[in-house]
Amino acid sequence: MKIRAVYPGTFDPVTNGHLDLVKRSAALFDTVIVAILKNSDKVPLFTLEERVVMLKEAVKGIDNVTVATFGGLLVDYALRIKASVIVRGIRAVSDYEYELQMALMNRRLSSKVETVFMMPAEAYTYLSSRMVREVSALGGSVHGLVPAGVERRLKKKLRLDA
Ligand code: PNS
Repeated sequence: MKIRAVYPGTFDPVTNGHLDLVKRSAALFDTVIVAILKNSDKVPLFTLEERVVMLKEAVKGIDNVTVATFGGLLVDYALRIKASVIVRGIRAVSDYEYELQMALMNRRLSSKVETVFMMPAEAYTYLSSRMVREVSALGGSVHGLVPAGVERRLKKKLRLDA
């Protein structure tokens, strides 16, 4: 049986930690769909279109990975695209409570979709999109923490190269 997994998130922007998880998932599942939430409560730094472009660039060359967007309930989307697995990353204990809540809510909504937690490489355990945005906005370097295209766009967006 071929297993299709969905890796959902806000990806504002995608980090090397996300990418690490994409690669691990791609090695484990037949197909991985990296799915960006369309209508988040959060006000994003990057538009949905920009995040799609950055993610597509970042996963280029990984054959079984595609990038998509979704709205509404994650489980409804997973069922629609015939994904039986939701991949979520857990970095530290602090992630666990929120992730557990979400996984159990998703399980309640549909027993046909299983959440699989994965850990990124140790080097990325402290990394988050929020930190990347903050450090960049304050003029710090995020080199090595995000794909090159993201680093470039962050500088442009935050006018750090002006
Ligand atoms: O990268 P994030 O912000 O931690 O991702 C959160 C995301 C997009 C996975 C989550 O907010 C989500 O699945 N939203 C869709 C709405 C939904 O299904 N909510 C019920 C599950 S708690």
